[in-house]
Parts: sequence; structure tokens; C-alpha cells
Amino acid sequence: MNALAATSRNFRKAARLLGLDSKIEKSLLIPFREIKVECTIPKDDGSLVSYVGFRVQHDNARGPMKGGIRYHPEVDPDEVNALAQLMTWKTAVADIPYGGAKGGIGCNPGELSTSELERLTRVFTQKIHDLIGIHTDVPAPDMGTNAQTMAWILDEYSKFHGHSPAVVTGKPIDLGGSLGREAATGRGVVFASEALLAEHGKSVNGLTFVIQGFGNVGSWAAKLIHERGGKIIAISDISGAINNPNGIDIPELLKHKACGGSLLNFAGGNAMDPNELLVHECDVLIPCALGGVLNKENAASVKAKFIVEAANHPTDPEADEILSKKGVIILPDIYANAGGVTVSYFEWVQNIQGFMWDEDKVNSELKKYMTRAFHNIKNMCKTHDCNLRMGAFTLGVNRVARATVLRGWEA
Ligand SMILES: NC(=O)c1ccc[n+]([C@@H]2O[C@H](COP(=O)([O-])OP(=O)(O)OC[C@H]3O[C@@H](n4cnc5c(N)ncnc54)[C@H](O)[C@@H]3O)[C@@H](O)[C@H]2O)c1
Repeated sequence: MNALAATSRNFRKAARLLGLDSKIEKSLLIPFREIKVECTIPKDDGSLVSYVGFRVQHDNARGPMKGGIRYHPEVDPDEVNALAQLMTWKTAVADIPYGGAKGGIGCNPGELSTSELERLTRVFTQKIHDLIGIHTDVPAPDMGTNAQTMAWILDEYSKFHGHSPAVVTGKPIDLGGSLGREAATGRGVVFASEALLAEHGKSVNGLTFVIQGFGNVGSWAAKLIHERGGKIIAISDISGAINNPNGIDIPELLKHKACGGSLLNFAGGNAMDPNELLVHECDVLIPCALGGVLNKENAASVKAKFIVEAANHPTDPEADEILSKKGVIILPDIYANAGGVTVSYFEWVQNIQGFMWDEDKVNSELKKYMTRAFHNIKNMCKTHDCNLRMGAFTLGVNRVARATVLRGWEA
């Protein structure tokens, strides 16, 4: 099942539990606006090349729309649509005053020079600058884009609208980016895990963890779990997987990677079959890489007691059912990885205030938002007698539906 079908299915289940009016249900599913633009740029050799850029603005009942811009050869309108919808529920679950959006350009950023990427970003911004804005739609980095991309969008947008740092988040610190933003998703994953484990009378200290992915999210989650006394007994990245029953020394692994070493040749672990990683014995499994990695082929063999979905869509709906029947507790992506967008919101707030917070304030506010959201989800689970995924969906959908009804439809 693709991302759009899975998201819409979860939305419909939540709408049924909430007893939503079918007209509201329909209006919440249809995106507010879908934008498709042609972006032609001269390449460095003088030849012309054309790309298609997308922005799907899903919903703005609770505030400006918020979501990443990705540069990827397979940017597909259906997927962008699903991810925009997911952002609407995610920002509502985190209770930050935003709606949802997503965008992208169908290009291979690895094949473009820095100046070609800059031209492409500027042309895309010229085409959409009237439709994004501080109080309209606030882009952020995603796959294939980064802080530099946001700096170019800020600069191009500001030519039309005056200096506007709050028009994008995930910016370089020198241009108004927030301290703590880089670590925010991984840190949020750890705060979310702590809230879940506390509910079960446990803490990170002394438990065993398996982590798939050692990029931005996986490495920050691993570092913070290690600092709290959690034992990471297996970890993987695109190069392969390693394990160590006594716990992998994460600070040493980070040093080894920073010196150009690969995960597989790290002396503090033994190479293992990456396909075995997800079914490795552990207390907590944290997928931090790709979507769809837990599926009907491997779900029955999963031995973890808890799964924290740091990646987007790591669990197929079929796997979700199998795992639920086995009693595995899953902390869903729309909550577990919301730390990044929450600190993006703090970045926007700081830009609007014209006042920079210190990192401790960013981290303590993030903890407050993540912990509060967990308790709000648990309340929905009690009210609707449902699992955490439906608890999160009902929480998010209900907040957006209430805002929509309060605003009304009078033309
Ligand atoms: N970065 C954020 O702020 C953020 C926010 C929300 C959700 N997410 C989601 O978290 C996930 C990871 O994002 P990221 O920013 O850390 O990306 P990243 O590119 O920094 O890291 C991805 C990691 O996954 C590894 N990987 C790729 N293919 C793999 C495979 N087949 N097996 C094992 N590992 C593999 C890579 O080697 C890398 O270590 C994605 O699903 C992303 O959508 C990220």
C-alpha cells in the first residue's frame, strides 16, 4: 500500500472513531491547493534543462501550512500529497499552530552543480513566492535539500517581500536558524520514548535498543539513548549492520564515522546480516531510515516489545495488524518524529520575535511539547479504546476538524 493510501486509510479510521460528519471528512481529505510549476534553468554548459516543481498545501485551518521541500528524481504528486496530509495531522498532534504542506522538484540533486541547484531553487521560489509566506506556507528542508537551500529561498523570497527570515525554517544559524534544530528530531524521538516507557514503569536506562539508520535522526537518537544509559545492541546504515551484546559505544562510533570510517569496519561491533536487524532480540526497535521496512514478510518475527517510528511510514498496514496482535506497542511516526517540526515552529517564533533562544530553552520546550502530546494521545486512546496510532490520528484529526468547524464556510 502506498503512502497516500495508508495515510488516507488511517484518516478514515480516525474519522469513523470520532463520528465525523461525512462532509467534513471529505473537505479535510481534499488538499487546499496543489501547485505544479515548470522550472527551466541554464546549466553550467549553457544548455537548458526543465524540471517540474510541486507544492501541495493540504490544510490551513489551524495556521500557516508547514512542510519540507525535497529534491529527488522520483518526486511523485501522490506521495507529496500523502506527506502534505500527514503534516496536517502531525502539526495538530504536536499542538503547534500550523497546517500541513509538502513540496519538491523532480530532479537528481547529485547530478547538479551547486550553482545549478541555486538557480533551480531561485526559479522555483520565483514561481511560488506569491503562494508561500510567513503566515501562509513555511517550507523546510527534506530529502535532497538542506540549510543552504533554505538560505537561497529566503534570499529570493526577500527580493519580492522584504527581509523575511520566518518564511523558511531549517536555515543556517547565521540567517536566523534555531539552536538545537539539527538534533531536534532525534531528541524528540528520545523524549517520546521516555514518555512511553514511563507509562510502562520503565526508563531508557538499562533497556536494550536496536536502531536502523545512522543519519541525522538515528545518530542523535543513539547518542542521547547512550547518554541516558540505554544499551544499543545493534545498529545499521546503508553500508550494513553491526551488533554487540554488551552495547555499542556510540561516542566512539561517532568519532570513527567523523574520521571517515564506515559503520561496518567499526572495531566495537560485529558485522551482522542487515535483514536480521529488525528481528533482533531487544526491548525497543527504532527504525530511522526508510518507509515500509516492517512488512508482512518480517512482522511476525519481530522480537522487540516497543517500536518507536522515527522514520516516516516504516510499518506497512499489514505489519501493523500482525504486530498489534503480537502485543508489540508502536509509537507512531506522526508523533514520534514530530520533534523536528516542533523546533521548526520554535525557529519561526524566534524569527517573528526577533529574539534568539538559548539551546537549553529550545530543548526544555521540546520536552514539554513531546511529553504533553504523549499524554494527549493516551487520553484519546482511553476515550476511543484504540491503539497509539489511532490515538494520535484521532487527536490530530479532531483538532483540525474542530478548527475547521469553528472557522465556518460562509463565502
Ligand atoms: N531529519 C528530520 O528532521 C526528520 C524529521 C521527520 C522524519 N524524518 C524521517 O527519518 C528518517 C531518517 O531521516 P534522516 O534525516 O536521519 O535521514 P539521513 O539521510 O540523515 O539518514 C538516513 C540513514 O538511513 C540509512 N539507510 C539508508 N538506507 C538504508 C537501509 N537500506 N538500511 C539501513 N539503513 C539505511 C543511511 O545510511 C543513513 O544512515 C526518514 O524516514 C525521514 O523521513 C526525518
